[in-house]
Amino acid sequence: MFSVLLFLLSPALAWIPTEDWGSGNVTASKGDSGQCVCHVFLPDTTFPADRVEHMQQISKDMIIEVEIQINKLVSYEAKLEVYLKDLSQLTLRVGMMESSSDKYIKLDFELLRIELGEFDALVSQLKESLNVSSPLFDSLYTEIQNMTMIVNQLETYDKSNLELIRIEFAKLQKKLEDCQQDQNFEPDFGNCNGTGILSLSKPSVIQLNYHLSSSYVYGGWAKDSKPLRGSESMYVYGGYTSPQVHYFYLYPNYDRLILRSAFKTYTLPSGWSATGNNFAVRGHSIYYQRNSNEMCKINVTTDKYDYRVVSEASSSFSYTYSSSQILDFAGDENGLWVMYATGASKGKIVVAKLDEKAFGIEKKWSTEVYKQLAGNAFMACGVMYATRSVDLTTEEIFYSLDTRTGEERHLSIPFQKFQEKYSYLDYNPTDQKLYMYNNGYYVSYSVKFNK
Ligand SMILES: *[C@@H]1O[C@H](CO)[C@@H](O)[C@H](O)[C@H]1NC(C)=O
Ligand SMILES: *[C@@H]1O[C@H](CO)[C@@H](O)[C@H](O)[C@H]1NC(C)=O
Ligand SMILES: *[C@@H]1O[C@H](CO)[C@@H](O)[C@H](O)[C@H]1NC(C)=O
Ligand SMILES: *[C@@H]1O[C@H](CO)[C@@H](O)[C@H](O)[C@H]1NC(C)=O
Ligand SMILES: *[C@@H]1O[C@H](CO)[C@@H](O)[C@H](O)[C@H]1NC(C)=O
Repeated sequence: MFSVLLFLLSPALAWIPTEDWGSGNVTASKGDSGQCVCHVFLPDTTFPADRVEHMQQISKDMIIEVEIQINKLVSYEAKLEVYLKDLSQLTLRVGMMESSSDKYIKLDFELLRIELGEFDALVSQLKESLNVSSPLFDSLYTEIQNMTMIVNQLETYDKSNLELIRIEFAKLQKKLEDCQQDQNFEPDFGNCNGTGILSLSKPSVIQLNYHLSSSYVYGGWAKDSKPLRGSESMYVYGGYTSPQVHYFYLYPNYDRLILRSAFKTYTLPSGWSATGNNFAVRGHSIYYQRNSNEMCKINVTTDKYDYRVVSEASSSFSYTYSSSQILDFAGDENGLWVMYATGASKGKIVVAKLDEKAFGIEKKWSTEVYKQLAGNAFMACGVMYATRSVDLTTEEIFYSLDTRTGEERHLSIPFQKFQEKYSYLDYNPTDQKLYMYNNGYYVSYSVKFNK
């Protein structure tokens, strides 16, 4: 019974600081797979037999009480979902306000305040429906109140407040989504025994790019797909107003990405600028396209640059949404890959596996996908997946090629887009998410595999 209660609570618990809801004899923490774990320390004395009966009655009462609370929590969870959606809207709104010119801010601001009023009502309603005196609920309420307070400070608009709110919301949103994802998707990292991708979650719009510029519509963001020890969550971003990229920004973890606080910036030397945005970060190295058919590598440990020419890659074929996308790098459970079309393949995509040590092509597979008709492509578990547009708001995975068996499949796995065009799409095996750079925004999807 208690574990059910904790399960239902988990989305909320995730963002309550642990120290706030342990009171010495009862502590709680987050388990390996994200579930909430409660530790209860009982005094080491013998239990008097004559009180067993009394205890049984108490326990019966408690079960009833817990059932009442569970019913409340079920409705609370539904509210949380609404709240999560509001948060994501709010995050976006704040991002847009930051990038818009001043004359629109006043209007946007009014709308935001109206929404926040509704948000505040939701919080009060929550408190009412959670009428239990428990340090746990109290700190949850404080947290929500705190957020509301921060949001109310928007009234005294200044740039630093907005920045603070944007960061707080983005972090909170990630935690809530991770917890929801744990429940809905049960990721099984590293297991490639299934028969492939079944579905994608709704898009998570994280935030506008590092430059906070809505005109930086060409770019990409990614997480190291085979991280070194000590750099488990390294993220990279590169973007610009054209498919040319002059800088790469590296972040040691997700929070620093959100804070836009890079630990390293590569100003690509003259002659080394990146083209096409379909770069990848793997094994503490950044792989990217230079000019049309040269693949470059920056070793982040040594800051050394290297390159190889892929002479058969044709510069005549790019993906639908962007020009100059000739070499598309991708990392998955099985290795590092580069995809490109050739003259000989008449524009159909070729998948090549890279030998990471030698930085050379090890093996190749041909596909039936005309690159110009594809939105993008990525690798997961040694399977190449290609996407294409369905309409302005829907994209689909329409093709796969399993490099382990040579099997090709025609699929229709639709997924929602936040905005129509995107210049980057890649899978990451460490969190089983797809990373998309969607018209200037960092967007991600959880991937559900068929087991
Ligand atoms: C822990 O339990 C003991 C014995 O029941 C009690 O005396 C003590 O006050 C409790 N500590 C806290 C922090 O609740
Ligand atoms: C809330 O709890 C208090 C005491 O725990 C009780 O007196 C009150 O009636 C409860 N209110 C609601 C709306 O359940
Ligand atoms: C709420 O805000 C106050 C003042 O900013 C702070 O001291 C407190 O730690 C915050 N509480 C929580 C649960 O975040
Ligand atoms: C995958 O399948 C193989 C053989 O069928 C099995 O030995 C292995 O444990 C499975 N891996 C996982 C992660 O389930
Ligand atoms: C990067 O350089 C380090 C130090 O020379 C080396 O050990 C490592 O293998 C290099 N990484 C790649 C991906 O080449």
